[in-house]
Amino acid sequence: GLKIFAALAFGYLLGSLNTAVIVGKIYGKDIRSHGSKNAGLTNTLRVLGKSAAVFVLAGDILKGIIACLIGLRLGVYASSGGAINCVSLLAAGAGAILGHNWPVYFRFKGGKGALTAVTVLFMIDWVMALICLGSFVIIVALTRYVSLGTICATMLFVVLSVIPVFDNTFYFQIFAFLIALIVIFKHRENIQRLLSGTENKLTFVAARSG
Ligand code: G3P
Repeated sequence: GLKIFAALAFGYLLGSLNTAVIVGKIYGKDIRSHGSKNAGLTNTLRVLGKSAAVFVLAGDILKGIIACLIGLRLGVYASSGGAINCVSLLAAGAGAILGHNWPVYFRFKGGKGALTAVTVLFMIDWVMALICLGSFVIIVALTRYVSLGTICATMLFVVLSVIPVFDNTFYFQIFAFLIALIVIFKHRENIQRLLSGTENKLTFVAARSG
C-alpha cells in the first residue's frame, strides 16, 4: 500500500531529472526543440554530440539505479526471492520511467524511457536486460535505426517476460507489459517515419552544429 506508493513517487521524482533536458540547458539548447525533439540519449548525441551524450548516459543510468535501490530498500516482496519479486522495486522503476517521459520539473515533456527502462531491467534481472540490450545493439548495427532497435528490444522484453525460464511473477509481467506499451507509444512518430522511410539513421560524425 503506502510503501508501493512511496516507491512510485520517489521513482517519479528521480526519473523526472531528465538528464537530456538538464545537459541541453547547460549547452544552451533546449533539446526538445532540436533534432527529433526528444529528450533522450539518441537525440543528445544527434544534436549536442558525444561528450554531452556521455553525461546523459551516465545521468540517466544513475537515476534509474538510485530509484531501484530505494525501491529495493522499501522491501515489499510478492513472494520470497530475488529482485524480480520485489514489488516496491518494480514500482520505483516504473515511476522512474514515467518521470523520465513526463518530467514534473520540465513541463511534463521528456523522453521515451528506453535507457531508463533497460537500466531498471538490469536491476530486476540482468540476464533479461543483457538479452534485450544485445538485440538492440545487433539491430542498430545492422540497420542504423536506433528507434527500430528500441522497438524490437522492447517487444522482445514482453516475450521474455512470459517465458517461464525466468522467475517471472504476475507483477513483473504487468510491469513489462505497461512499460513496453509506454515505450512503444512514445515511438509512434518514429514508427511513422520508419514506415515512410524518413527515419534518421545513426551516423558517427565528429561534431554537429544541430
Ligand atoms: O529511445 C529513443 C530512440 O529509440 C529514438 O530516439 O531521438 O531518434 O526519436 P529519437
